[in-house]
Amino acid sequence: MPGPAQIVVDSVNHMYRPPRGREVLALDQVSLEVGNREFVALLGPSGCGKSTLLYLIGGFLPVEKGLISVDGAPVTGPGPDRGIVFQHFALFPWKTVRGNILYGLERQGMAKDEREQRAMDFIKLVGLSGFEDSYPSQLSGGMRQRTAIARTLAFDPKILLMDEPFGALDAQTRGLMQAELLRIWQATPKTVIFVTHDVQEAVYLADRVAVMSARPGRIKAIVETKFDKNDPNLFKTKAFGEKVDEIWNLVRDEAIKAQGVRGP
Ligand SMILES: Nc1ncnc2c1ncn2[C@@H]1O[C@H](COP(=O)(O)OP(=O)(O)O)[C@@H](O)[C@H]1O
Ligand SMILES: [Mg+2]
Repeated sequence: MPGPAQIVVDSVNHMYRPPRGREVLALDQVSLEVGNREFVALLGPSGCGKSTLLYLIGGFLPVEKGLISVDGAPVTGPGPDRGIVFQHFALFPWKTVRGNILYGLERQGMAKDEREQRAMDFIKLVGLSGFEDSYPSQLSGGMRQRTAIARTLAFDPKILLMDEPFGALDAQTRGLMQAELLRIWQATPKTVIFVTHDVQEAVYLADRVAVMSARPGRIKAIVETKFDKNDPNLFKTKAFGEKVDEIWNLVRDEAIKAQGVRGP
């Protein structure tokens, strides 16, 4: 990790206590440090606590045990320094694509002309020109997800927390969005934590990949994955393929454990 940590997760546990049913220990003693402008991918079997960890860093869940800090200050709630793209796109159903994107910019106090322009720029960026006035219910899952991504990118947070943001997209759109995310990340000072199921996507996008263990989630391994992202033949290189295999093996072991502990 280059330089001092920007995001520090220190010995964090998280217990869900549903009003009905059993308590679930989702995270157990999770520690992770992420550097300023670093791009970290988070991998692990379904149910290992990836979303929980992002919600905690985003300030959407209270930190009950352990500590999470951003730039030295403890996280106590959501803030404009952290933008989150939720796994299940949380759009306002009563607002259009444009309205959803404008909302955050209005709250930031951006002038009207500027925010209108910015909303249009990001609608174009995610390929939704022509759908500005559509409501979420009129869009496909992939389009809703792109709206959610545009909304978060438009307000330009220094930290991007992305929960399987490209999972609902077709392969071609996914490739375009990956390239755009890398371009934005390289062009503006941003730290990214990116949850994905796609090992190749993780190795391609991230500087480091953190693999989590089956529930209760812990950080099982952290693997450096620094490659030249501008190399058009990167995916064909031996080094890239070997890194993907190495991480696949780590993830697969945990996925098998997760199957084993899955109750009825
Ligand atoms: N609101 C909740 N109440 C009870 N259990 C929950 C709740 N949210 C998540 N969990 C449980 O916590 C564990 C971690 O969930 P999650 O963070 O969503 O995992 P992941 O994103 O890695 O799939 C899972 O076992 C899940 O069933
Ligand atoms: Mg999740």
